[in-house]
Amino acid sequence: MNPNRSIRNILFVTSECYPLAKVGGLADVSSSLPRALAAKGLNVITLLPAYPGAQAQLENTRTLGSIDGPLLEPGLSLIEGTVKQTGQRVWLLQAPELYDRDGTPYADAHGHDWPDNWQRYAQLCRVACKIASGHVADWQPDLVHCNDWQTGLIPVLLKQASSAPPTLFTIHNLAYLGLFDGDIFGQLQLPASLWSFDALEFYGQFSYLKGGLGFADALTTVSPTYAKEIQTEAYGCGLDGLLRYRKKALTGILNGVDYETWSPETDSAIAFPYTSQSLTEKTKNKQYLQKQTGLASNPSEPLIGLISRLVEQKGIDLVIELIKAYADEPVQWTILGNGNADYERELKALADAHPSTISFTPGYDEQLAHQIEAGADFFLMPSRYEPCGLNQMYSLRYGTVPIVTPTGGLADTIVHTTPGTLDKKQATGFVTKGADLPSLKQTFKQALNIYKDKPAWLKLRRTGMQQDFSWEKSAAAYLQLYEKTLNAMTT
Ligand code: ADP
Ligand code: GLC
Repeated sequence: MNPNRSIRNILFVTSECYPLAKVGGLADVSSSLPRALAAKGLNVITLLPAYPGAQAQLENTRTLGSIDGPLLEPGLSLIEGTVKQTGQRVWLLQAPELYDRDGTPYADAHGHDWPDNWQRYAQLCRVACKIASGHVADWQPDLVHCNDWQTGLIPVLLKQASSAPPTLFTIHNLAYLGLFDGDIFGQLQLPASLWSFDALEFYGQFSYLKGGLGFADALTTVSPTYAKEIQTEAYGCGLDGLLRYRKKALTGILNGVDYETWSPETDSAIAFPYTSQSLTEKTKNKQYLQKQTGLASNPSEPLIGLISRLVEQKGIDLVIELIKAYADEPVQWTILGNGNADYERELKALADAHPSTISFTPGYDEQLAHQIEAGADFFLMPSRYEPCGLNQMYSLRYGTVPIVTPTGGLADTIVHTTPGTLDKKQATGFVTKGADLPSLKQTFKQALNIYKDKPAWLKLRRTGMQQDFSWEKSAAAYLQLYEKTLNAMTT
């Protein structure tokens, strides 16, 4: 018995990592959490596929050689390197036939999921297991940290191995189940006993996510409120029963913010850096943003920003209705996002009809995302559910007041403005009563009233800018959980 084994080596496996490949917040977390853990003295290696352009962003690269073995595709190899922009240590899994494709990590340029996603991520999982067993580059992790469905087979496979490190599985978004036809199960050559509702089967299909949830030694999700929500039928995506069953293993740990990337005083992507004491520079950013996105130059009208994947989760239908309701009012909107084609069409039509007050930029644009954070007065995020959400925390630091729904990480990070919370310098934003249009309209009206009350508005922004959501606390919570998980295995 060894009650106090301490953690040293972590293998962090992910399908996205900023700036190498990013679709959403998973990329931000996969970049900043491993570095925060490394700053605590851990030896963290982040493993992800070598998507196009990823290797070119590394320095000090060396090849770790080819990886082969049963059920591994021929021609796999690993490249080690350091991300030039962030200093993060990564291992890229090279398999040109699987990963060297235009589009996003998950879909082609038309938004259609790659039909062989099951194989692309099964191979990533198998390589992770090979590393976990200590057969690569003389390095073995003490624990494997898995993220979302793409890594869900790792806990399943490692549970079949005779001696393997423990696994921690983080749910960034329960709605992405990693579902595939049942015959994929046969092609993966997993033990037949795993094809059961107690294991990997999900209503006749095969769910990679369910593998992670059922077989990992520890489970986390990215906010305390979402950890509770996903144990209910309303938010459980059909997996709430399993999550209730595993509730002792499940912890909610709030994501942190990488303030090296997201701070208005040092942000090289914005036109005019500023602090809470130089908010006139923020006004210049507003003017710059208005010009950049084709809006009328108008310092006094409130400017509402939104940066998002355009999907149902984010309440984009509510946003569209809210914009319509205010289309003839003195309010400006600047929206950046891509996703659902119907939402894109509607937003474009609104922008075309009201070019001086509504702007819509379709697509993904890192620089514009930073400028919206710097230039907008409010940041709108009326999500139906939100495991954590990062933009509301970024907005706080930029003095851009968030308007959010009371769910998941939004509920955990934003304090609604009332005379009492404002007075005590606790208010940081606006939280609706629910994710519905009447509630959103009511809260929006309240927000616009505070915008007109200049002393209250200044206090609200300054309080938001003082909030500290750095990784320090959350990384410490992960470290503690890693140690607890490791020691539960070895005692
Ligand atoms: P989610 O992961 O559900 O998309 P988060 O709030 O956790 O939501 O993270 C979203 C991240 O992706 C943020 O860094 C945000 O700025 C970025 N992002 C989303 N859409 C775009 C876009 N169209 N262009 C640039 N950045 C975007
Ligand atoms: C997911 C969630 C988002 C969270 C992000 C990073 O994409 O939708 O709420 O912030 O993962 O954990």
